[in-house]
Amino acid sequence: MIFEFCLTIFLVGLTIKATKRPHNFPPGPRGLPLLGYLPFLSSWDPQYPHKAMKKISEVYGPVVGMYFGPSKPIISVCGHEAVKEALHNEDLDGRPYIPAALGRTFGEHLGLMFVMGQFWQEQRRFAMRHLRDLGFGKTSIEDQMTDELGDLIKDIENESELDPERIVDLKGIFQVSVINILWAIIAGERFQRNDPKFQELLRANEMMFRAGNPVRGNIPIPAFVLKHFRFAREFIGIKSELIKPFQKFVQVTIDDHQQQNPCEGEARDFIDVYLKEMNKQKDENPSTNFTNKQLISMITELFGAGAESTSSSIGFAIIHLIRDQQAQQKMQIELDQVCGQFFPTLNHRSSLPYTEAVLMEAQRCSTIAPFAVPHSAVKDTHIQGYTIPKGSVVLLNLDAVLQDSKYWKDPEVFRPERHLNEDGTKVIKSDHFYPFGLGRRMCLGDSLAKNTYFLFTAALIKKFRFEPVENEPLPSLNPKIGFTLGYQGFKAVVTPRS
Ligand code: HEM
Ligand SMILES: *[C@@H]1O[C@H](CO)[C@@H](O)[C@H](O)[C@H]1NC(C)=O
Ligand SMILES: *[C@@H]1O[C@H](CO)[C@@H](O)[C@H](O)[C@H]1NC(C)=O
Repeated sequence: MIFEFCLTIFLVGLTIKATKRPHNFPPGPRGLPLLGYLPFLSSWDPQYPHKAMKKISEVYGPVVGMYFGPSKPIISVCGHEAVKEALHNEDLDGRPYIPAALGRTFGEHLGLMFVMGQFWQEQRRFAMRHLRDLGFGKTSIEDQMTDELGDLIKDIENESELDPERIVDLKGIFQVSVINILWAIIAGERFQRNDPKFQELLRANEMMFRAGNPVRGNIPIPAFVLKHFRFAREFIGIKSELIKPFQKFVQVTIDDHQQQNPCEGEARDFIDVYLKEMNKQKDENPSTNFTNKQLISMITELFGAGAESTSSSIGFAIIHLIRDQQAQQKMQIELDQVCGQFFPTLNHRSSLPYTEAVLMEAQRCSTIAPFAVPHSAVKDTHIQGYTIPKGSVVLLNLDAVLQDSKYWKDPEVFRPERHLNEDGTKVIKSDHFYPFGLGRRMCLGDSLAKNTYFLFTAALIKKFRFEPVENEPLPSLNPKIGFTLGYQGFKAVVTPRS
């Protein structure tokens, strides 16, 4: 611990640049001359930085300016008005340099999430258009999801039958399904559970998730230091050898697609459409940004952004429903009435207001991306009248918005009814509810995520009763910090409903 602290001082010291607070900088705590405020953050909340930032905001106001290290302004934004303003400000559409993120994209500025400008716009537009055609937003992927759901349900049934008390371990179980669906969209095939290739994909994905330290990965170590000093890379958690198996897995799949000649015939999946574009641009545009490395980086990021977040959302919804048996029963009654003996489909969705409200409420109570993804100022700009210098890292506290007592009565209470009209027949869409962000950097997978989250949670609750394990503490709502906030593994008594 002491060692790490000294090392941090040393490394941060390397980035010294004389700075003073610019004119009209947002108010905020000062910290130490060299280190800024970073060492004190945990005194506000030892566990969760987004909670710490919220508490600091209660003292200084909705827009807080701090320095982490001598030259890195961090702007923490809480409160709906300020967050919304910032998300719609295009000057804040940048992303900070996050060393750990670069580790996933061959050390180059590739992918979607941490790139900016022309490159970002072109790749994002392409990805959105084609992922939508392939079923991101539409129902064509629904059959794949239904099949996957069938396998998951069989899995859970088996585990439940094997245990005399019907206790099932629900750790990581949803992620397996979500990964399989993502893979089907990207590579056109959904694996059987026992396929060795699927086991390889799961292992590679798991390793990738361990390849970056979510806290230290933000320490602003300059790129040249990272490049030359292995210990610096390891300190912030870049372990490229953990990412390689995933990259290799994807490369083999791309090679397979290439051999099947994507130029002829219809594109079956995302890799096909991307290869088609690559081939087209190779002839016309020598400086094309559609490259093999970019395709791998994009797929890596889609997995990074999509797998954990969606499965965490399903997990948290189940946990909330275990803790609130009454809500679970109400949801089951609605599902039985509307869907009869069938599983819920996307067509049922608009006729299931209570179910929808439960899903929204779980997302409100358990934000899995509490800071969105960090933004940065591409030029000097303003939030709520304060000057935000170019290069500032801007943290938009979605959790603070979703938990703000100004808009949500008793924000810490799980109460699906708050999203319904008085007689419970209609969902009310609140302006203060945007777990996927807003504006041009908004989540690129929101429709896929929403569909998956709905189909899985609704079907599981229709099929099973989830109850707490006797004589054990209730499954915890305290999130586990990672790339996003995940649920802690938990067990439940799971019984099929007849
Ligand atoms: C319930 C699940 C999910 C939640 C709550 C969520 C939430 C978010 C949020 C808050 C952001 C940041 C917005 C910003 O920076 O202002 C984001 C970005 C992003 N998400 Fe999601 N997400 C989810 C699932 C997914 C899925 C399934 C995918 C893709 C397969 C995905 C892909 C992305 C990408 C690529 C970005 C970066 C977009 C950019 O920088 O232009 N997400 N997401
Ligand atoms: C490719 O990316 C570079 C930045 O890396 C950008 O300057 C250029 O405009 C992009 N090309 C296209 C066609 O968008
Ligand atoms: C469930 O168990 C049955 C018999 O015990 C077995 O045949 C089947 O393969 C199992 N299914 C899964 C998904 O594990």
